[in-house]
Amino acid sequence: MKHDLLVRGGTVVTASDIQEADIAIRDGVIVQIGRDLGPAARIVDAQGCHVLPGAIDSHVHLAQPSGDGIVMADGFASGTLSALCGGTTTVMPFCLPAPGQSLRAALADYHALADGNLHTDASFHLILNDPTEAQLGQELPALIAEGYRSIKVFMTYEGLRLRDDQILATMDAARAAGAVVMVHAENEDVIRHLADRAERMGDLVPAAHARTRPVAAEREATHRALTLAEVTDAPVVIVHVSNGEAIEEIARARARGVNVTAETCPQYLVLTARDLESMDWSGAKYVCSPPPRDEAHQQAVWRAIETGVFDLFSSDHCPFLYDSPTGKLNRRGRQSFRHVPNGIPGIETRLPILWTLGVMGGRIDMMRFVALTATNHARTYGLYPRKGSIAIGADADLAIWDSRIRRTIRHADLHDACDYSPYEGFRAQGWPMTVILRGAVVVEDGQPVGGPRGRYLGDRGA
Ligand code: URP
Ligand code: ZN
Ligand code: ZN
Repeated sequence: MKHDLLVRGGTVVTASDIQEADIAIRDGVIVQIGRDLGPAARIVDAQGCHVLPGAIDSHVHLAQPSGDGIVMADGFASGTLSALCGGTTTVMPFCLPAPGQSLRAALADYHALADGNLHTDASFHLILNDPTEAQLGQELPALIAEGYRSIKVFMTYEGLRLRDDQILATMDAARAAGAVVMVHAENEDVIRHLADRAERMGDLVPAAHARTRPVAAEREATHRALTLAEVTDAPVVIVHVSNGEAIEEIARARARGVNVTAETCPQYLVLTARDLESMDWSGAKYVCSPPPRDEAHQQAVWRAIETGVFDLFSSDHCPFLYDSPTGKLNRRGRQSFRHVPNGIPGIETRLPILWTLGVMGGRIDMMRFVALTATNHARTYGLYPRKGSIAIGADADLAIWDSRIRRTIRHADLHDACDYSPYEGFRAQGWPMTVILRGAVVVEDGQPVGGPRGRYLGDRGA
């Protein structure tokens, strides 16, 4: 029978092997991998390129309510288009309930925003910000049974942070119903203490954001989160890990038998706290939490990527306009670092950065790249084997990487709706020039083609 699409002549890379092979696709699914696979309605020439699974970005924020007149720059359309152009075919945004809103009502809002606007496939994480008996005892188990199998909790941010007893209750509920808990690990009391002191001393610049969120605050909270996971025997993901001391806590907990998955992000490889120190307010462009650290911690993050402490490499794309009253430079954000919204964009640049510095730089091989950017995300969040690999029966989500391409990152060339990139000027070697989503060519010669074809993945982990 004639195939719909044949990807021919490339080197196929998965998390476990590399082989010269063609890939035949029918009805959006991979049906054969090998040579001489027969005729196809369309052929994509992958000679000289590496054919990887379409990547999964399991940590992105899109259209998230941000309070105080602050508006997230990307909704589902621009955010997922940008993801696609960077080689990502599935994204996992967070669903944050407004104060007093039920999780189910928040999900209804998110689905309404996403419907018809997705350029990639998507699946939501829940954020638990109000762990009442009703939410933990009834709503959460019902939603987990429906396929929402990951819940983020915060140990920082006023209005979001949970106390330890609330985190314990959440971990108990998640474990019982078969979900994983993602933890933002920073000690809020330490941060508030230091931020109050900085404000009293008139230290209001963006660089104070990094000074008031020290490594110790992240290390302590990471240790505590892992202790709570140990006590409840709940699987836990420590997200956006920035430094060597938190990494040591994770490695130690894993050695004790704690079921911990660890995630890091490009900002902890490429940026440092010095980027927040500009004479003007442009350091606000790099304000995210945890903040970027120093070169020694960057090296510790690299070692943990190389040695397997990290399982996931995500973007933590959290886009705010820089020069806007609804973004970083909002009226109060110009007055104190405390009012600069936390988060930076990076959904399109995540993979070219790791490919360039990691694979081309000789730090990791391509199989590890695939594991860190696709396969482990699918396994952690219940999307495997449909997503995250190149295998017969899997969705035909593919990214065809050309390492001969040299491109300097310029925000003007990206597809998000932000007004800057924190990685402006980064020299990438290699780019995913062709991207295929469920058998449809959606990026050609590095440019998007066609409208939103993404779907919501509703049966996660079922
Ligand atoms: O600064 C960050 N990372 N903002 C996004 C929200 C979060 O904590 O992940
Ligand atoms: Zn976080
Ligand atoms: Zn985040």
